[in-house]
Amino acid sequence: MSGCPFHLQKSLETIEVPAEPASDYAFLAEVYGTDSDEAGLRRAVIEAARERGEPAPLTERELTAAGRIAWRNHARCIGRLYWRTLVVRDRRNLVEPDAIASELAAHLRAAQNGGNIRSILTVFAPAAGKGRKGPRIWNQQLCGYAGYRASDGSVLGDPRNAALTAKALELGWSAPAQRSAFDLLPWILSGPDGRPHLFPLPEDLVQEVVIEHPDHPGFAELGLRWYAVPAIADMRLRIAGTDFGAAPFNGWYMGTEIAARNLADTDRYNLLPEVARCLGLDTRRARTLWQDRALVELNRAVLHSYERDQVKLVDHHTASEEFMHFLQLERKAGREVSARWDWIVPPLSPATTRVFHTPMREFPVSPDFLAAEPNPAL
Ligand code: ARG
Repeated sequence: MSGCPFHLQKSLETIEVPAEPASDYAFLAEVYGTDSDEAGLRRAVIEAARERGEPAPLTERELTAAGRIAWRNHARCIGRLYWRTLVVRDRRNLVEPDAIASELAAHLRAAQNGGNIRSILTVFAPAAGKGRKGPRIWNQQLCGYAGYRASDGSVLGDPRNAALTAKALELGWSAPAQRSAFDLLPWILSGPDGRPHLFPLPEDLVQEVVIEHPDHPGFAELGLRWYAVPAIADMRLRIAGTDFGAAPFNGWYMGTEIAARNLADTDRYNLLPEVARCLGLDTRRARTLWQDRALVELNRAVLHSYERDQVKLVDHHTASEEFMHFLQLERKAGREVSARWDWIVPPLSPATTRVFHTPMREFPVSPDFLAAEPNPAL
């Protein structure tokens, strides 16, 4: 495929039309329909609370709908076809780290579901009002590997988690006696006082997958592994003007996230040279395409290993087709899709996927998942 195929011209045209600026309350019409006054009445109640500086008093039904719509809206996600299946756990009554930690464990267990991963969002209390703090999860994800920075600047493990790892150690985390590149991190949680509390992970909570290659037995000696469930914990969920700063959510992985980025990026695990060596490739010249070949084999290994363990994970070709289907359904529903091309297009063999040839644009949406408020202590 090259250029812009004719059947995509239509999406190009519709994309030029500016979408209505998203109303913070439009989701209420999806909950109550447009025939009754209910949406309007609920909007008035929520707006009044907002004027008093209070969090939006959403019903559980409204929260569930808004959580699903936030996923449907989110410009960086290729997996949105499944937005209606999101399970929303309403834990807005919880602000204290202890209670939150046990709910995080419950979230992860329910999400892992023996490998048949379920998409779940858990919503904890928002800040009680202006100038007040809400609970926060300091980890980037509920599962993550430590990155131990040595005095020479090098990192054992995942450099993405170097700051959190240092914080955990400072708070008294007892890392495994024999540190490895794949040590699961404890949780760091704070409540309304903002102070960090350390929570070691419950034993055997996190499901992991050992990475092997389907036809290179030597690959296993690299000792690679990854966890089953990506559960983002450092974004805030914004609904009707209220920020839920602790609202972890998970889907399932697309193989390239692990194999073409986490394990391959030079500022992450940077494993392509080792993989190439293991495969016996000539790494002296870029023109041998040793990086590209190592990348493909690493991706095959991840796809193979998750399938072997029956842990749900989608390949990028299938995910791309699912996203195209999502676009089609959304167009049929009369909704414009906000999307970031640089996030949607997979990092491996991009031009073989239809999303590469599809024009996209990002515009403000509501509800949405946004970057967390910066955490000055990290
Ligand atoms: N890219 C992130 C990671 O590799 C996960 C982001 C969310 N991904 C998902 N499939 N829901 O850990």
